[in-house]
Amino acid sequence: MSGGIDHEGEERSIDAAAGETVMEVAVKNSVPGIVAECGGACACATCHVYIDEAYADRLEPAGEVEQSMLEFAEDVQANSRLSCQITVSEGLDGLRVTTPESQH
Ligand code: FES
Repeated sequence: MSGGIDHEGEERSIDAAAGETVMEVAVKNSVPGIVAECGGACACATCHVYIDEAYADRLEPAGEVEQSMLEFAEDVQANSRLSCQITVSEGLDGLRVTTPESQH
């Protein structure tokens, strides 16, 4: 399956295996703007992304820890998520996420 990640207008299409998190996929593919300082422990908010609206309903809602971490992220929007908390699955094929301006 594949998904796209936009960075300053540069869109990349990345293959991802089910079970990986969006953050892991992004880091493995050197996507700029995904620092993932805490390594996926939901404790840094440097893996903040915006989820394409078309996919918003297909994701599990953010848990309490993620929600409170998002309060520390900059430029949070209604479609903000921490990419380390999103696990890739077949149902998310084609998922598009965008990195926030502040993380560039
Ligand atoms: Fe730190 Fe996602 S990698 S919160």
